[in-house]
Amino acid sequence: MAATALLFILAPLLLVSANTQIKVTNNPADELVAVLNSNRTAHKESSLHDNPGLACIALQYIKAYEGHCDDVGGPKAKRPAASEFADTFAPNCGVLSSSLTQITGRLLGCQSRYVHASEAFSDILMKNEKSLDILYSKNHTEVGAAVSGTDGGAPYFWCVLFSNGKHNSSFVFEDGVAKISKPGCFSGANDECSAAVGLSQPHSLWPYAIISLIAVSYAFGL
Ligand SMILES: *[C@@H]1O[C@H](CO)[C@@H](O)[C@H](O)[C@H]1NC(C)=O
Ligand SMILES: *[C@@H]1O[C@H](CO)[C@@H](O)[C@H](O)[C@H]1NC(C)=O
Ligand SMILES: *[C@@H]1O[C@H](CO)[C@@H](O)[C@H](O)[C@H]1NC(C)=O
Repeated sequence: MAATALLFILAPLLLVSANTQIKVTNNPADELVAVLNSNRTAHKESSLHDNPGLACIALQYIKAYEGHCDDVGGPKAKRPAASEFADTFAPNCGVLSSSLTQITGRLLGCQSRYVHASEAFSDILMKNEKSLDILYSKNHTEVGAAVSGTDGGAPYFWCVLFSNGKHNSSFVFEDGVAKISKPGCFSGANDECSAAVGLSQPHSLWPYAIISLIAVSYAFGL
C-alpha cells in the first residue's frame, strides 16, 4: 500500500526530470557534433571545428530530399549534384560561394522515429559500414551537422558534412552572421533549437502510431 502510493508520487517526478534532461540539450545538431568529436578524440583523432556555414549547408542538403527517406539509401538512392552546393545551398544560407571548400565526407540518415543525437549517431549514422572510415578520416578539419523533420513531423533526417577548409575562411556568411533557417536545426551557430520547436508540432504526432520504423543511411568520402 505504502509502496504503491510512493510510486504514484514518484512517477510524475520522474517524468519531470526526464523532461528537464531533454531541455539541457539546446540544439540536437550541436549535440551530435559533440558526440562525434568525443568519439574522434577517444580514437586519437583531432576534434573538428564546428562550422555554422557548413552546418547550414547540411540542412539545405537535407531539404533537397524533400522528405523522401527512400532516396537516402538502398536501391533508389540519390544524392544532390555537386553543383547544388554553389548554386542553391550556399545562397540559401547566405554563405559566400567563393568560400566553399572541398567536402571530404558525408553521413546522412533518415528514420521515421525521432531519437536523441547520441542514438542518431550510433544507431543511424554509424550503421553504414563505410561510416567509421569517414568518421576517423584525417582528411577533415571541420564539420557541420543538421537535423530536420518533414512538414513538422516524421521522417527525421540527420546530416553531417565534413570539409578540409581553413577554420575561419571557409563557408563564411556574407554578412558575418549565421542566417538561421527553420524548420530544422544546425550546429555551430549558438542557436537554441529544441526538438519541440524546430522539428515537430503536435498535429504531427499521429504518424508515430501508423508509420512503422524505417531507417536508412549512407556514408561516403570525397
Ligand atoms: C565510437 O562510435 C562507434 C560507432 O558508434 C562505436 O562503435 C565506438 O564504441 C565509439 N567509441 C567511443 C569511444 O565511444
Ligand atoms: C584566420 O585565422 C588565422 C590564424 O588562425 C589568423 O591569422 C587570421 O587573421 C584569421 N582571419 C580572419 C579573417 O579572421
Ligand atoms: C582522404 O583523401 C584522399 C585523397 O585526397 C583519398 O584518397 C582518401 O580516400 C580519403 N580518405 C577518406 C577516409 O575519405
